[in-house]
Amino acid sequence: MTGAIKVLGISGSPRRHGNTETLLDAVLDGAREAGGEVEKIVLGSLDYASCRGCNVCHRTGECIINDELTPVYDTIASADVLVVTSPIYSMGITAELKGLIDRTQYIWARKFILKTLYFTNEHTRRHKGIFVSTAGLGWENVFDAAFPAITAFFNTTGFEYWDNVIANDLDHYDGIRGHPTALAEGRAKGRKVVDLLRKMQESGEIETSSREETTPEHATDT
Ligand SMILES: Cc1cc2nc3c(=O)[nH]c(=O)nc-3n(C[C@H](O)[C@H](O)[C@H](O)COP(=O)(O)O)c2cc1C
Repeated sequence: MTGAIKVLGISGSPRRHGNTETLLDAVLDGAREAGGEVEKIVLGSLDYASCRGCNVCHRTGECIINDELTPVYDTIASADVLVVTSPIYSMGITAELKGLIDRTQYIWARKFILKTLYFTNEHTRRHKGIFVSTAGLGWENVFDAAFPAITAFFNTTGFEYWDNVIANDLDHYDGIRGHPTALAEGRAKGRKVVDLLRKMQESGEIETSSREETTPEHATDT
């Protein structure tokens, strides 16, 4: 039996319909073509605060902030594929995306302090994470500072860091639409991840989208 494959795109660029969101849209188009159920959240359209570092979540497992970002974590929890995006700003990710990631501290606290949440290996294997990014410079290492934060985010939220869709040197190409391969690559990866999860469903390797949260025994920190 197969079920809906939910693909959530999160746009972390403050610029609407710029290079990064356009590349995200290509991934989401591919996912939709393969039969995925697609949703997009634009962080720049939401009003939300940064983590205050109050550490109340270390005791309660809940974030004390309640704003437009709060429901996004439930949407993330119900996704099978999470496509998280940011352009490279000052050699790292944008404030918009960093704000989202820092606010997952309450999930981290549930896993590693309170030990009320644990994602099994099987759970992580059937939840795929993709990082989409663009950069103006052609430097080979221009994305390197972004990867650890994305790794931590996927680890905390129970997604396997499946792949990247990244395009650098966009100043040279005059934007993502001038890049020779990035949009086609993005579309192909969107299709591929949905096809992969469907195959896993059909083979009985995974069931339909559900999320089990169990007591941790082997949780490892990021
Ligand atoms: C504030 C700011 C900082 C940037 N810093 C870098 C950088 O450190 N390295 C780089 O290669 N490009 C940098 N860029 C260029 C962007 O990464 C690039 O133009 C990207 O494609 C913009 O994506 P967007 O259209 O989604 O905003 C910067 C752009 C801005 C606005």
